Amino acid sequence: MSLPVIHDNDGHVDDLLAALLLWLAPGVDLQAVTITAGDSYPDQSFSAFLKMATFLDLEGPEIAYSEDEVVNPFPDSWRSESRLVNGMPLFSEISLKSAYQQGPVRKSHSVISDCLSHTKEPITIVSTGPLTNVAKVFDDRPELKSKVKEFVIMGGAINVPGNVEQDNSDGSAEWNLYADPPAAKTIFDLNVPIKLVSLDVTNQLPFSKDFLERVQAQAETSRASRLAATLWSLVKSIQYYFWDTLTVACVIRPSLFEFKDVKVDVLTSGMSQGKTAGRLLGGRKVKFASTVDKDGFKELLLELLRSR
Ligand code: RIB
Ligand code: CA
Repeated sequence: MSLPVIHDNDGHVDDLLAALLLWLAPGVDLQAVTITAGDSYPDQSFSAFLKMATFLDLEGPEIAYSEDEVVNPFPDSWRSESRLVNGMPLFSEISLKSAYQQGPVRKSHSVISDCLSHTKEPITIVSTGPLTNVAKVFDDRPELKSKVKEFVIMGGAINVPGNVEQDNSDGSAEWNLYADPPAAKTIFDLNVPIKLVSLDVTNQLPFSKDFLERVQAQAETSRASRLAATLWSLVKSIQYYFWDTLTVACVIRPSLFEFKDVKVDVLTSGMSQGKTAGRLLGGRKVKFASTVDKDGFKELLLELLRSR
């Protein structure tokens, strides 16, 4: 039995690779990949992801995107990376006529809504970007929360500082939740089970050139490894982490992780907007990943990439 999953992401390098890993994972039934206007220009990351699927001759999920701007947009210089990804020379061999998905493109929230409406089995929603489009689904149709098995969210900073350096932030929030705090609060308040892959655990896994070399070493016999190595090469010189690939690993191989219960709330205004604040009274219980088997995680990535 495969696990039905929807992946909502914001189209940066780690998001696109995370979606690819879910697609390659044998135990996952990836039903849709939806892109939000977070850390990319979604038309660019959408087009890049179609090219990735075409390059690897994959089939299955519907791909969608929405351009609705978030409350606190990511810096343009980060978002522009999506233009580089979409224009990668590796994709020059791909003809648009053979692109993975043809025809009209639907909005992210419509696709998520449709998947939930029609499913017989509750779906796991993995979110690795701002929760803007996911929240819209439940603002419009709150009853659909009964169709969600759990949310697995890359976001938050429980016992560590945040990673936002902006004039309207005191630095306590993590980018995905800071980008749209009301949307995050909507999802937290649904009281559907949540697993958080917060900075507490992603800080333990900076991206490394050693790992890139291991991916490159298998690129000759695996197109997915060639593609992944090309994508990771774009970020090898900046401070980058396995944020989103770690989050999907939490769905693909949860045994790699240890989780702890914590009661938290998302703050929606002021200098701490987007902060996942611990609460003794109030707030809600979530599970957050406290530790991960780092070597096991890297082996999993290499194993999935080698399969294509
Ligand atoms: O804070 C890290 C998160 O912000 C990651 O999901 C990254 O892709 C960006 O969305
Ligand atoms: Ca992301």
